[in-house]
Amino acid sequence: MDAIVIKGGKKLRGEVSISGAKNAALPLIASAILTGGRNTIKNVPDLHDVGTMARVLEQLGAEVSGRRTLQIASSSINKFEAPYDLVRTMRASVLVLGPLVARYGRARVSLPGGCAIGARPIDQHLKGLEAMGAKIELNHGYVEASCKRLRGATVVCDISTVTGTMNLMMAASLAKGRSTIENAAREPEVEELARVLNKMGARIYGAGTAVIDIEGVDDLHPVEHAIIPDRIEAGTFMAAAAVTGGNVLIKNCLLEHLEVVIAKMQGAGVEVSADAGGIGVRGGGELRPLDLTTQPYPGFPTDMQAQFMVLAALANGQSVLTETIFENRFMHVPELTRMGADVNVQGRVAIVRGPTRFMGATVMASDLRASAALVLAALVARGTTRVRRVYHLDRGYERIELKLRKLGANIRRVKE
Ligand code: EPU
Repeated sequence: MDAIVIKGGKKLRGEVSISGAKNAALPLIASAILTGGRNTIKNVPDLHDVGTMARVLEQLGAEVSGRRTLQIASSSINKFEAPYDLVRTMRASVLVLGPLVARYGRARVSLPGGCAIGARPIDQHLKGLEAMGAKIELNHGYVEASCKRLRGATVVCDISTVTGTMNLMMAASLAKGRSTIENAAREPEVEELARVLNKMGARIYGAGTAVIDIEGVDDLHPVEHAIIPDRIEAGTFMAAAAVTGGNVLIKNCLLEHLEVVIAKMQGAGVEVSADAGGIGVRGGGELRPLDLTTQPYPGFPTDMQAQFMVLAALANGQSVLTETIFENRFMHVPELTRMGADVNVQGRVAIVRGPTRFMGATVMASDLRASAALVLAALVARGTTRVRRVYHLDRGYERIELKLRKLGANIRRVKE
């Protein structure tokens, strides 16, 4: 297993280029199930989760080749099961459920179960598919869905769910008649999927708003598409620049996806400027405490909460971070505490008292964004930090140590 070793204290300087969005890549790969022929997806981030999704499709019989440009030939799909061993390593595997049942009338997908950040049920995915006429059974830990042809339906989601909205949008694209998803997730990755489905010949209106209308069509054709940049990777590098008091230009990112992150960072006293060349982040001034609450998009992303806790810990005063999306997303707190942070968690609220002088320590990554927070704390810590269980980072950050080293960080990957 790899670990990342960081000697803190370097101010990051220079330019970093953001990779394609993980959470857009995963549904786009699943969407290839909906077409025959060969789909080409470009700007695919080279990540462990992308490899897992490719394996899920291969398991179904599809042919997947390439790395940053993926070719997916799905005509050869002849199996309809996403097995437990893959789904348990990556919950997003459940994204094959909607497309399989829509195109082939059957799917058997392992229930994902809980994970480090919360229980994460998929009841909304199932409720929507049932409303479209799928027969859903739960057998031996698997969801078994079947139907002749899905029919359009109105689905009112009880909760805003990103992958749930994606599954239903893909299913409804090949259903007979019109569907409406109400209380749909508005994340840019949902909009990106709709863009690709529409390129395939789907008729989706309103993606990016809370009400999505879908006019079902009989078939969809393969496409070529380049994925949008990863807003969470961009936000993480912005935070890295801010906490180290550095000066970094974040290139190849979309400003409109980062507005609330930028506003919160500016509120904390970080200089952020943006133009066509990218987003410039300059830290070094005194940091002010933060008050933030995670919300579905366009609110503050839960996927940036852990990284902002490091910023809050460095600020002079008391910050309040409230996590409303996942019930257990403060796994980074005990590890940040071991590095010197003063954080008191009461249920969904974390009170962070700064300023902290982080100290290097051996720490354990528990999930993807928690790991990113540990790396950020390590960049400013006195002494050396060893972040263990780096496979969590590799799920969602492409070569993070190389990108950080190029910005001047003293960071290396070691085998344990
Ligand atoms: N939920 C339900 N029932 C459902 C679906 C969701 O109760 O049927 C609950 C969840 O338990 C959670 C909330 O609704 O409390 C929101 O979950 P959502 O379904 O939106 O999350 P997701 O689709 O499983 C995606 C991202 C996550 C990101 C969340 C929230 C992908 C592959 N994953 O997960 O990304 O945190 O949306 O924005 O798109 C990450 O990249 O580190 C990551 C965890």
